[in-house]
Amino acid sequence: MKQFDLTGRKALVTGGARGLGEGMAQALAAAGASVMVGDVLTSLGQETAARLSASGAKAGFVKLDVTQEADWEAAVKATVDTLGGFDILINNAGIEVTALVADIEPEALRKMLDVNIVGTALGLKHAFRAMRPNGSAGKGGAVVNISSVAATIAFPAIAGYSATKSAVDRLTRVAAMEAGKLGYGVRVNCIYPGLVPTEMGMKLAGDVVAAGLFASPDAAVGAIVEQTPSGRLGEVGDMADAVVFLCSDAARFINGAGLPVDGGMGM
Ligand SMILES: NC(=O)c1ccc[n+]([C@@H]2O[C@H](COP(=O)([O-])OP(=O)(O)OC[C@H]3O[C@@H](n4cnc5c(N)ncnc54)[C@H](O)[C@@H]3O)[C@@H](O)[C@H]2O)c1
Repeated sequence: MKQFDLTGRKALVTGGARGLGEGMAQALAAAGASVMVGDVLTSLGQETAARLSASGAKAGFVKLDVTQEADWEAAVKATVDTLGGFDILINNAGIEVTALVADIEPEALRKMLDVNIVGTALGLKHAFRAMRPNGSAGKGGAVVNISSVAATIAFPAIAGYSATKSAVDRLTRVAAMEAGKLGYGVRVNCIYPGLVPTEMGMKLAGDVVAAGLFASPDAAVGAIVEQTPSGRLGEVGDMADAVVFLCSDAARFINGAGLPVDGGMGM
């Protein structure tokens, strides 16, 4: 559909080497966008970018640790230089460390805060600086942050992770307000994905068994599906399509919103 067409848009996807980020990069490219993959996994990220190029998209890879400000500066510059602009940021990079509240380890929690909260905040900062009038790209744009259904429900053993994803939700709202008030021309939204069997998703299913909450990973997955009106786990494409929608002109008046993409699990 014409309203979903992203021809001419220039996107940076963090954590784009694999999993949901890879799917989002593919979907943005399929909708016509040029795509920069940013990740700490260099060879995997380069392979992902090469597949995007082979499919006919303009694409590149940049090494980006989202917790490092200097990496953000370099990644935005590489995106503008390689793609000729920058008007879509998908703040997708994230980590999940499972722990019962009684077992939370401060260093593991701090690492998760760093990647999931500081990383997302720095992405917003550098996207705003580049996309706002007189920035290095200067044409406004759209940011989609990846929160989680974990920000909308109480699932055991992910209190720390849920807290980081609730923070992503609030960052989204305040950033959208600032961008609007200050005339940046940037919409900011987030999605709350349900469980998707990526590397992170499958590890979580194993972790909750180790925490003594379920008899097996299948039982954990079954309990999640049972709580989901659509009756299945999420798929990478479900999240990728939602991201394309939020970046597109079809979502032109959607701003500061959080979109559940969870089959109804979090309602
Ligand atoms: N899979 C799920 O069930 C699920 C559900 C809800 C939300 N999410 C969120 O979706 C996002 C993607 O998850 P996924 O399932 O694809 O996970 P994944 O572990 O499969 O992939 C995450 C990617 O992020 C990259 N990454 C990690 N730390 C980084 C850093 N500091 N800088 C740059 N890149 C970094 C990894 O190298 C990897 O390529 C995460 O934010 C996650 O919290 C996932």
